[in-house]
Amino acid sequence: MKIAPSMLSCDFSVMRKELEKIDRCGADWVHLDVMDGHFVPNLTIGPDIVRALRPYTELPFDVHLMITHPLDYVTVFAQAGADILTFHIEAESDPKETIKKIKSLGMKAGISVKPKTPIESVYPYLESVYLVLIMTVEPGFGGQKFMVDMLSKVKTLREETKRRGLDIVIEIDGGVSRDNIKMAAAAGVDVSVAGTSVFKAEDAALAIAEMKCAKL
Ligand code: DX5
Ligand code: ZN
Repeated sequence: MKIAPSMLSCDFSVMRKELEKIDRCGADWVHLDVMDGHFVPNLTIGPDIVRALRPYTELPFDVHLMITHPLDYVTVFAQAGADILTFHIEAESDPKETIKKIKSLGMKAGISVKPKTPIESVYPYLESVYLVLIMTVEPGFGGQKFMVDMLSKVKTLREETKRRGLDIVIEIDGGVSRDNIKMAAAAGVDVSVAGTSVFKAEDAALAIAEMKCAKL
């Protein structure tokens, strides 16, 4: 299991230090949550912050766009240093166009589903994406409770990717901790985003190490 700590739960007044800390503590990717106050009722990180943090780690930047018009922002996030750019199927941009643009700028494309959206909605794009992000909370805020029912989507998607012979990364996001990560691993998750369970842990290195062990 790979762990992508979500910077949304870090101390924003010392963001660079928090980034360097999770790098030292064994994070695999850095998850950056972008919200526009429209697609979700919150405002967070924008491209300038992503760009400002970029020099301080070599870990991949896993940028999660919770915005209504992702296509309009693909270029700025490429310039800011995103490695993986994930947008929501429920957003208003054309998914095909958005994936094409992400890839044309040298990034890996991800597509995400909110809890109420059926996983089948991303099936038309499976051949062209690197990653599918299944939300395990309603997007918008860190610190919410893990929705265990979402693991059935993980299983369904894992079966579908196997059936099609595709090597797609399945990521989950929201409420992941050492109490539920084993179930997630068993369902077929490759990468878990973890905000609260890493940044609010007494020992972030231990928290990351324990969660990584869910599937070796
Ligand atoms: C929620 C964000 C998540 C969130 C995860 O909308 O996409 O990445 O920060 O935080 P925790 O792990 O605290 O649920
Ligand atoms: Zn996220």
